[in-house]
Amino acid sequence: MALEKTIYIGPFIHCETLTELDIAVHGMIGVGEDGKIAFVVRDVEGGQLSAPDGWETAKIVQTPDHGFFFPGFIDTHIHASQYPNAGVFGKSTLLDWLNTYTFPLESSFSDLEKAARIYNRVVARTLSHGTTTACYYATVHVPATNLLADVCQSKGQRAFVGRVCMDRLSPDYYRDESVESAITATRQCIDHIKKIDPKFDLVTPIITPRFAPSCTDETLKALGDLHHETGIPCQTHVSENKAECQLVKEMFPQSQSYTHVYDEAGLLTQKTILAHAVHLTKDERALIKQRKAKVSHCPASNTALTSGTAKVRTMLDEGLTVGLGTDVSGGYTSSLLAEAREAIFVSRHVAMTDGDDAKLSVEEALYLATRGGAKVVGLENRIGGFEVGKDWDAQMVTLGGVGDTVGLNQEAGLVEIFGGETWDDKVAKWVYTGDDRNTTAVWVKGKLVHQRPGFKP
Ligand code: GUN
Ligand code: FE
Repeated sequence: MALEKTIYIGPFIHCETLTELDIAVHGMIGVGEDGKIAFVVRDVEGGQLSAPDGWETAKIVQTPDHGFFFPGFIDTHIHASQYPNAGVFGKSTLLDWLNTYTFPLESSFSDLEKAARIYNRVVARTLSHGTTTACYYATVHVPATNLLADVCQSKGQRAFVGRVCMDRLSPDYYRDESVESAITATRQCIDHIKKIDPKFDLVTPIITPRFAPSCTDETLKALGDLHHETGIPCQTHVSENKAECQLVKEMFPQSQSYTHVYDEAGLLTQKTILAHAVHLTKDERALIKQRKAKVSHCPASNTALTSGTAKVRTMLDEGLTVGLGTDVSGGYTSSLLAEAREAIFVSRHVAMTDGDDAKLSVEEALYLATRGGAKVVGLENRIGGFEVGKDWDAQMVTLGGVGDTVGLNQEAGLVEIFGGETWDDKVAKWVYTGDDRNTTAVWVKGKLVHQRPGFKP
């Protein structure tokens, strides 16, 4: 369906650099019928807007008081199938958590009706949090994985959808039978997405070895070959938990490190997303940098499962590309805004031992959630900020009731705006006290994909 040319009027905020926001208080952004940004006016003269030639009849969408446009969030690591377990992890750590909570849940996705119910919920919920792009792990089941791709497409969320591969150290009731069956099933999921979205315009398949311990050398190698043959991206976990790292050492004695296991299989490339990266050595970070592979930082999960504190400042200083991942349900929240907050707090815990330089600022956390994530998924030329030619993947944030002048009502959630705040203050209040009640509307490729009650498109 063709989109209407639309002019978005009001403040817009996006990340200029890792440390700086660009805040345009009197902004105006034109989005064409192709869903791409056609023009950006940073400072509408005298606050008076006049549509450029050819845009006189365009539709207008204007922010309410204390509203602004912000790029959509990019969740670089989330297990869609684990959504029902968000918040349920007790005192477990990674390896017992997988056996106790995760494998039993994921195995139940042989039931396609259950899969449909959960996948519809998780896509609707992440959209409501302003997540316009998500890198999903599904399960081993081909029909349910294909269904997740269908749900992303029908709800309009940009997504990477991965069928999980695991043919070793996995329970009898939930595993791949063989290398061949893992590869065949992965190809079937790739073919399905080729059918529903031939150019991978919205939904892209992603090759997904669960993690080194749950794959035989042969499967890792075969998936590496497939990655090179097809150019399709790949995602996996690395160096999340100390017991896991020890296990990898024992299972792959010939490899120099956990990261080398992936490299030797051909799975460490510029199209690889590595989740967690908590306990990497300096050599591993150097190898990741050399291969231009990307890191998904998952602070909520790393804290919940007491995996450790990833050294984000070190990774950034060393030139690694980092984005944020909720890692539901190792992580308890499906909100990338909450994840940004967790990233800031975890960095403060690191700072308490490593020094103040480790602290991430609000601006840096928002960068990781948008531009950083865009680089992680290889779409930095299409999403992550407001520049001409980029897709309109955006959220309207309102720090007050929709259409309300004083932000102290229920609809506004917890963010209270008293009137004297600078825009920097408002953004900080959003990051620390905001939630989905502040996410008034969400667009992907120019299409409205979520709205709060009261929003008038
Ligand atoms: N490592 C292997 N599988 C998983 C998973 O499902 N979640 C997390 N956090 N780590 C993993
Ligand atoms: Fe994970």
